[in-house]
Amino acid sequence: MNMSIKEKIISRLKEASGEPISGQILADELEISRTMVWKYLKGLEEEGYEIVAIKKKGYILNRLPDTVAAERISLHLQTEHLGREIIYHPVCESTQTIAANKARDGALHGTVVIAEEQTAGRGRMDRSWESSSGEGIWMSVILRPKITPQFAAQFTLVAAVSIARAIEEVTNCVPNIKWPNDLLINGKKVTGILTELQADMDRVQAIIVGIGINVNQTADSFKGVLEPIATSLKMESGTAVDRSLLVSKVLFHLERYSDMYIKLGFEPIKLIWESYNCTLNNRIRATTLRETVEGQAIGMTNDGALQLRLDNGEIKNIYSADIDL
Ligand code: BTN
Repeated sequence: MNMSIKEKIISRLKEASGEPISGQILADELEISRTMVWKYLKGLEEEGYEIVAIKKKGYILNRLPDTVAAERISLHLQTEHLGREIIYHPVCESTQTIAANKARDGALHGTVVIAEEQTAGRGRMDRSWESSSGEGIWMSVILRPKITPQFAAQFTLVAAVSIARAIEEVTNCVPNIKWPNDLLINGKKVTGILTELQADMDRVQAIIVGIGINVNQTADSFKGVLEPIATSLKMESGTAVDRSLLVSKVLFHLERYSDMYIKLGFEPIKLIWESYNCTLNNRIRATTLRETVEGQAIGMTNDGALQLRLDNGEIKNIYSADIDL
């Protein structure tokens, strides 16, 4: 992996685990002057890194800032493609809109657009998505799988499974997936996924996977209409979560499960999805663009549709809907 000088300095100080490293050693290792080292360290301090200078010994990294800036994510990244290009915004309207434009301009497979705060976050069904500053993960990933458009919807389920796995790994919580792709903990929503497609008739150009994860919010953040339906990982697990670590795990699993899907098809993803699901075998109400239907959720088809047995015995496949359990 090609690290910038800034990333190398952070990584070197972090590796030293509290042992001071002299400016001269950093300068020699990075092949830059001591003045440049000093300038980089000042820049890092301005970004919230707490760096202590110990006289005649060197520098210690005391605390990392709580951000999702590229260099923080890169510290943990274990992927080949996903997150190798990260576009970071402290504030933006919507990472989804930026990523869609970047994809049209030819951004590479795996490019990530991420923000600390969104002022016009978008949810499914034209809803807005609450994206407060520094408390969640608001990111959009550009994927360019070599598939035809009819298989694109399955990528939403690939994303849901990847995020569930990452959350399980980083926290002590096991989320449930509500079809197609809401992640719930104790019945409240912790993650939403918005998948958008750019395609020709016979070929996907890009899938933009928009991921919103409520991470470190407290109950105060979910007053009003959100209170009964939304929660955060911190509220459920009792501890604050390192957002940059969670981002890197999401990208890791998204790459792994996307590769699995391309190589082996939907069957293994479907099995993992089913192990997290909280929709199947329940009576549900599905509101589609055209109608509202009620019935027993009896399964998921091989193309990711929800199978509903209506009260008159008819089996209906639902491709896109809002589900009430
Ligand atoms: C949902 O309705 O459940 C989907 C919510 C998706 C929100 C994410 S946050 C990052 C990306 N940017 C947006 O504007 N929306 C998605």
